[in-house]
Amino acid sequence: MHVELYERIWMWAAGALVLVFLGVILVTAGLHATAPPSHIETVDPATLETHPEFGTPAVTEMPDGSVKAVVVASMFMYSPEPIEVPAGRPVTFRITSSDVIHGFQIGGTNANAMAIPGYVSQFTLTFDRPGEYLITCNEYCGLMHHAMVGMLIVTGGRP
Ligand code: CUA
Repeated sequence: MHVELYERIWMWAAGALVLVFLGVILVTAGLHATAPPSHIETVDPATLETHPEFGTPAVTEMPDGSVKAVVVASMFMYSPEPIEVPAGRPVTFRITSSDVIHGFQIGGTNANAMAIPGYVSQFTLTFDRPGEYLITCNEYCGLMHHAMVGMLIVTGGRP
């Protein structure tokens, strides 16, 4: 079968692009530990205020020395604010939303999750460097979306 030269060039170019995109996924997964959030756990957004865990979102130390940070995102803030966690210890974030879909991205780290009403997003991260980290909402959630920010304070150790 005869294939025109230009058509052949574009076929190879399209194939090469697919390989480049797959390579980008593999590199980010390998070097930056980027992974799709996958935690299938539900929570009723209508009764969030009386929920034993999400009713009083807070940072708690677990018996094994790890830290749990329960966060509720809502128009247009995060609770608790600020979120204060220690450096050098694994912090498990458990995040949900009380209204619409929000984002939860911690600047300068690979933490980036969605806060979805009805679902719990969970990931664990250890912060090596103490300091203040800006949390931003990266899902359009309403008129004040651009102003929805939070603060993560990592304490202890050397800055
Ligand atoms: Cu919350 Cu955008």
